[in-house]
Amino acid sequence: MHLKPVIAANWKLNHTPSDARAFLQRFLAQAPKLHERTLIFFPSAITLTTVVDGLKDRPEIWVGVQNVHLEAQGAFTGENSVLMARDVGARVVLVGHSERRHVFGETDAMTTKKMALIAQARLTPMLCVGETLAERESGQTTEVVERQLRAGLSELDDAQIGSIMLAYEPVWAIGTGRTATPEDAGEIHGGLRRALVSRVGEKAAAGIPILYGGSVNRGNASQLLAAPDVDGLLVGGASLDADSWASIVRA
Ligand code: 13P
Repeated sequence: MHLKPVIAANWKLNHTPSDARAFLQRFLAQAPKLHERTLIFFPSAITLTTVVDGLKDRPEIWVGVQNVHLEAQGAFTGENSVLMARDVGARVVLVGHSERRHVFGETDAMTTKKMALIAQARLTPMLCVGETLAERESGQTTEVVERQLRAGLSELDDAQIGSIMLAYEPVWAIGTGRTATPEDAGEIHGGLRRALVSRVGEKAAAGIPILYGGSVNRGNASQLLAAPDVDGLLVGGASLDADSWASIVRA
């Protein structure tokens, strides 16, 4: 099965609501409706409503959040909840992004809990997995990404797993200008697909988009997208500029 590619912009801690309004004006002017792509924006929680409003005439474009708290509500000053995200129109939630894991100390146990919480709220979790440079150089890539995958799926039933998205983001490629080659990405994605097949079977596994992320830009996007089992792209830096993003979504 060939999946409709998912092209996602992770804005991280960039773009104020005013920046987002200007970005969308410029981007939408050059982005006719793309039937053959699913587009997702992950703005900051504060910018989210502005992006939802800016896309009200483009319901085919999805909006998501970069993180949610482990609990759906309560005395957790400073956090954002899955229920709030859903209420303002988010459809997807990033889980276990490498910056959450490595800057904020998010553990596999936390990703387990968040995946279950998000699935119960009937939003789509996008689980991010990826090895550090040291792990890669010591030959642990497969072990690390499969451990992160197992943790993310461990409290989901088969139907819930069938509706997740997965992103392979090697930590050494994020924001560094170093990209996995299409061959490398294809190999890791193939391993992730096999792990999904053994968990939920061939048919469900074939329906789960596996995105690649890590220094994707307009020059390498189409080659990466053409690699086997690469069903989409999760883009950081190169998604911040409207023109660059417009050319990546057409890759
Ligand atoms: P860059 O595209 O800036 O390397 O970031 C990738 C990423 O972390 C997307 O989630």
